[in-house]
Amino acid sequence: MSTVKNINPTIIVIFGASGDLAKRKLFPAFQNLYLDGRMDEKFQIIALGRAEKTNEEFRSYVLENLEKFSRKSGLSLEDTQKFISHITYLRHDIDKEESYQELDSKLNAIDESFGLRANRLFYLSIAPSFITTISSNIKKIGLAANAKQDRIIIEKPFGYDKTSAIELNEMLSETFKEEQIYRIDHYLGKETVQNILAFRFGNSMFEPLWSRNFIDFVQITVAEEVGVEDRGGFYEGVGALKDMIQNHLLQILCMTAMEAPASLDADDIRSRKADVLRSIRRIKPNEVDHYTVRGQYDAGFIQGNPVPEYRKDKGVAPDSNTETYVAMKIYLDNWRWQGVPFYLRTGKRMQEKQSSIVIQFKPVPHSSFSYGNEGMTPNRLIINIQPSMDIKLQFMTKKPGLSLSLRPAEMVFDYFQCSTMSPEAYETLLADALAGDPTLFMRWDQVEQAWDAIDTIQEFWKNNAPANFPNYKAGSWGPEAADELLARQGHAWVSNTTTTVKEEI
Ligand code: BG6
Repeated sequence: MSTVKNINPTIIVIFGASGDLAKRKLFPAFQNLYLDGRMDEKFQIIALGRAEKTNEEFRSYVLENLEKFSRKSGLSLEDTQKFISHITYLRHDIDKEESYQELDSKLNAIDESFGLRANRLFYLSIAPSFITTISSNIKKIGLAANAKQDRIIIEKPFGYDKTSAIELNEMLSETFKEEQIYRIDHYLGKETVQNILAFRFGNSMFEPLWSRNFIDFVQITVAEEVGVEDRGGFYEGVGALKDMIQNHLLQILCMTAMEAPASLDADDIRSRKADVLRSIRRIKPNEVDHYTVRGQYDAGFIQGNPVPEYRKDKGVAPDSNTETYVAMKIYLDNWRWQGVPFYLRTGKRMQEKQSSIVIQFKPVPHSSFSYGNEGMTPNRLIINIQPSMDIKLQFMTKKPGLSLSLRPAEMVFDYFQCSTMSPEAYETLLADALAGDPTLFMRWDQVEQAWDAIDTIQEFWKNNAPANFPNYKAGSWGPEAADELLARQGHAWVSNTTTTVKEEI
């Protein structure tokens, strides 16, 4: 991970440029990088789409969406015009070789106008089923023949299980070397997720506590208020385990549990993360029910407004067994973490949007203090990833007054006090891909290990239909069974990570 990023002349080719991701995330991110001086003046975006459109039509479509989705508002027309003048639209048929020949001519013509062979960044913002066709055509026409200069970014899901991921990887490696493949997980671009590394390895005081000796358990929550919106068709075949746990939550787990890397080099960091994934205890099919809970939302209320059950959402089968919620207990079989449960949970239509990590320390061995009816609050370190972005340390202090009794208190570091203008995750990740820094992208062995860790669960769930779907109300914190998963060990979910600890009377 370098602190100074190279800026190189680059041609960015976006497959699926008229899609949702491009309009909401990619164009705003490239624009902000450009305006912040993070792109070379010699850059060009070739936007590929199926429909017949002129450059002008496509540029005004981008302009309209930049106004809606960019985190920067009030930009001058001159600035936005300057950016969109770098975009060229090209009608493209993914299945037709002629389309790639046309793309080849375009790329060569741009190189000629730049007076050099520019780097090439291919962004695949398309359904996974098209990856093979695109990759083999890129190879056939020789569009990415320069391993040092040409890269490909692939969105998740990378396969749908370990076997399919291996097949996909083998196919991709016929065209691209590992160092050219950037497998994106946008959670790794989030400022607060990157800060976990800074917090853990930029401070000495937490390290001695960061192990089985002092930590009781760890919780990682990624809760969303939204349902599947208009993505029902996509989500049906996927579910929360593959959509969120296999990638985003396991990556947060890696950042939380990894050993210190020897250096900030991409491979040192990614190797330490891969170690965590390798050390996840694999469970047997007959243990799946013991270690996991799946759920699907019923009708309910979000922020006071009624919302329908998942099975009534657009594109969803009326008898769907797709899970919209997963909770699981993970053990890491290594020296640092032996015996410490890591509880992961994610769900749609939950009570509030909240991504957080809770590190709960072991209780004091003995206490003579008196404290309120609810008992002593354990020491906790809470890292709120979004929408709150803060780090809290919760501890006990003396209650002011004549008696010697305790009350909980906390110290808070709030990101918004430093800056209200953090870059979007996609800006960070695209800047890295442009600079050729793969640290925040998934190396192949990480993807493979992540699938290996969850394959038994998905296989078991596929073969054993849930008996009780839907089993949690929209607007709740998930199925009751998820509370029982923790209660068995005397633990409970900490859902109020954004509220200040209460003073007890
Ligand atoms: C995506 C999932 O990867 O992450 C979505 O496919 C999910 O289902 C989204 O809603 C959550 O991302 P964020 O950045 O809004 O937390």
